[in-house]
Amino acid sequence: MPDRPRVLVTRRIPDAGLSLVSAQAEVDLWSEELPPPRELLLERVRGVDGLLSLLTDRVDAELLDAAGPGLKVVSNYAVGYDNIDVAACRVRGVAVGNTPGVLTETTADLAFALLMAVARRIPKSYDFVREDRWQTWGPMTLLGKDIHGAVLGIIGFGRIGREMARRAQGFGMRTLYFSRTQASPQAEAELAATFTPLDALLAESDFVSLHTALTDETHHLIDAAALSRMKRGAILVNTSRGGVVDQVALAGALRSGDLFGAGLDVTDPEPMRADDPLLALPNCLVVPHIASASERTRDRMAQKAAANLLAGLRGEPLPDPV
Ligand code: GLV
Ligand code: GLV
Repeated sequence: MPDRPRVLVTRRIPDAGLSLVSAQAEVDLWSEELPPPRELLLERVRGVDGLLSLLTDRVDAELLDAAGPGLKVVSNYAVGYDNIDVAACRVRGVAVGNTPGVLTETTADLAFALLMAVARRIPKSYDFVREDRWQTWGPMTLLGKDIHGAVLGIIGFGRIGREMARRAQGFGMRTLYFSRTQASPQAEAELAATFTPLDALLAESDFVSLHTALTDETHHLIDAAALSRMKRGAILVNTSRGGVVDQVALAGALRSGDLFGAGLDVTDPEPMRADDPLLALPNCLVVPHIASASERTRDRMAQKAAANLLAGLRGEPLPDPV
């Protein structure tokens, strides 16, 4: 690698990874809380050898050209990479890395937390106590949906989807899954998950949890038609990308009561503003894209992102290439 390669890191990431990078490279760190505005990003990226990007940075042909021919590697601090034009990177010989594996279980944990919180109406119940409406034990108060014994439909059966299936086993759920490629018979047996065509999965599931990447094919996969196929009183959980769900259609299904509720970690756009119609609905729980946000996992993501960046700077294969 060049003596002291120059890298741009677009936000302060945990020291567990940042220190590895600064030990080997000249780091230009964007240390503000908000992402660099586009114009500044295009300016700061000029002439760098490596870029450590976040999912909030759009890495496209314009940005790659602004960086110039010295750019060797884009290391995304995320498992998802829909923010990166991978084809444009390939054409320019720029390696691309992401952080799979280390966030799988942390993300599944949060998906399950959303599932349970919506099913058992935890946000609403908490409001009930805080608003001093708790007068007595109520036979009909704050009734929710059972989790045990229910049918979980998992859309996207990669690492995270599979961890969701594993959690469902502990709760005695029946698991259906849909994905582009069917899992091996061993995996299906181990996870007690049954491959099910999408429409049948939507029709049979009490809970539908999304674990697919955002691509042209999955954009608005859950649209009005898909929502109308879901069981009345079902619950939707999304920890993948906001663009997989048509939020206008979702608001309709939640308002009409066709769906019992939804738990969203991701929205389109992000951030979701407080005046969003979904937030006016008591059966929609939204959290701000925190699925991988545990201390340990964010450290491990930082280490992975650093390892990809440094390998790319050395011209070596990335440990986690896209
Ligand atoms: C977060 O959403 C990620 O892709 O890591
Ligand atoms: C991401 O890690 C996935 O494959 O689900």
